[in-house]
Amino acid sequence: MSQYVMKGGNPLSGEVLVAGAKNAALGILAGAIMTNDPVTIENVPMVQDIEFLLDAIRDIGGTVECRPGGTVMIDGSTIRKTMVNNDYIQKLRGGYYLVGALLGKYHHAEVDLPGGCNIGSRPIDQHIKGFRAIGADVKIRNGMILAHSSRLVGAHIYLDIVSVGATINIMLAASTAEGKTIIENAAKEPHVVDVANMLNSMGANIKGAGTDVIRINGVTSLHGAEYTIIPDQIEAGTFMMAAAATKGDVTVRNVIPKHLESISSKLREIGCEIVEDDDAVRVIGRNHLHSTHIKTLPYPGFPTDMQPQMAAVLALAEGTSVVTESIFENRYKYVDELVRMGANVKVEGSVAIIDGVSSLSGAKVLATDLRAGAAMVIAGLAADGYTVVDEVAHIERGYENFVEKLQGLGADIARVDNERDLQKFKMRVV
Ligand code: UD1
Repeated sequence: MSQYVMKGGNPLSGEVLVAGAKNAALGILAGAIMTNDPVTIENVPMVQDIEFLLDAIRDIGGTVECRPGGTVMIDGSTIRKTMVNNDYIQKLRGGYYLVGALLGKYHHAEVDLPGGCNIGSRPIDQHIKGFRAIGADVKIRNGMILAHSSRLVGAHIYLDIVSVGATINIMLAASTAEGKTIIENAAKEPHVVDVANMLNSMGANIKGAGTDVIRINGVTSLHGAEYTIIPDQIEAGTFMMAAAATKGDVTVRNVIPKHLESISSKLREIGCEIVEDDDAVRVIGRNHLHSTHIKTLPYPGFPTDMQPQMAAVLALAEGTSVVTESIFENRYKYVDELVRMGANVKVEGSVAIIDGVSSLSGAKVLATDLRAGAAMVIAGLAADGYTVVDEVAHIERGYENFVEKLQGLGADIARVDNERDLQKFKMRVV
């Protein structure tokens, strides 16, 4: 089983290029199957979650061609079944976008219930509510979502909870429904806007994405398009946190600084210097970071997907920080791992209280999920001595060339597959 081994202590410095947004890509690639024309998507991050989705699309007969540099061509005209039940789909969260896409195109979808990170109960009732509102009959049977309709008709849908997944899934299905669909209390995340823009480039008529009311005028069919995915806000934020934790000086390129405002302002608050350019953010770490309070919220609030990485930074910030997780109920499993490295963190329900320590020490720790794994790497790069992060498959679900990019910033880190390589790394990096 692969592990990351690192020797902490090097302040990261230099420039790093961020890939396309994984969570936008999942919605966009699913949307690409909704036409029988070829669709070309650029800036697709080649991470495990995307590979699983592409394999699932191939499995139902879709033609998928991956070209170097993150370009993916999808031809949905060859799809021959609307049942998606394979090993790939069970492993990722965003697989549920195939329900919205297949329902919108073929009025029928049978898709295995989603997997993804184990960060609490992750119901899909709002997705189902939306599909039913536009006329689909939806059932859960034998671990699958079954959605069928003879006609999809636009409707007025109020989401009880702000859900990224439900907003995107309903947009997908409703883009080809008859008449107008209104989604109220919609999620406003940049990737919701990106999926809407991509569907519009295929001929859909979606307005208001990025606000909490989205209006969709259904069209009879979608056509081929070429589209470039926005940069990944969470990957960018992760490198920003790594710069802060290691007291480094890192310029994160190919970003949209506006999407990073909540992250930049929290880093400023704890003492980092942030310099924004048109498509880059430079983070200059400081020797003394201060504590702060954070509450995760839907966009434009502080993202739940940055909570573990921020906690790793706050573990080294002077004073007591209070982190409140308001999106997922079980997103502190990584805290025990951070404590193994000498952090002083106590969790009470949805709140983590972090008393900053002056240093962390390397340890063998687990990547308990995708973003928690990134947090362990950040902590390991800032810690004294060697850290070994286990179960890095979680990390590789969402970060493209993570190790190589960190090496490019001067980190002593390697991916190893056995004990011999681990020892070799330790002998080489002393
Ligand atoms: C997406 C992201 C994930 C991110 C999350 C919040 C993908 C593949 N994943 O997940 O990385 O952490 O947004 O930004 O894009 N909820 C319900 N019923 C539903 C749907 C959601 O109660 O039908 C609840 C969830 O349990 C959670 C909250 O709503 O408490 C937000 O979840 P949601 O925005 O839907 O997250 P995902 O789309 O699963």
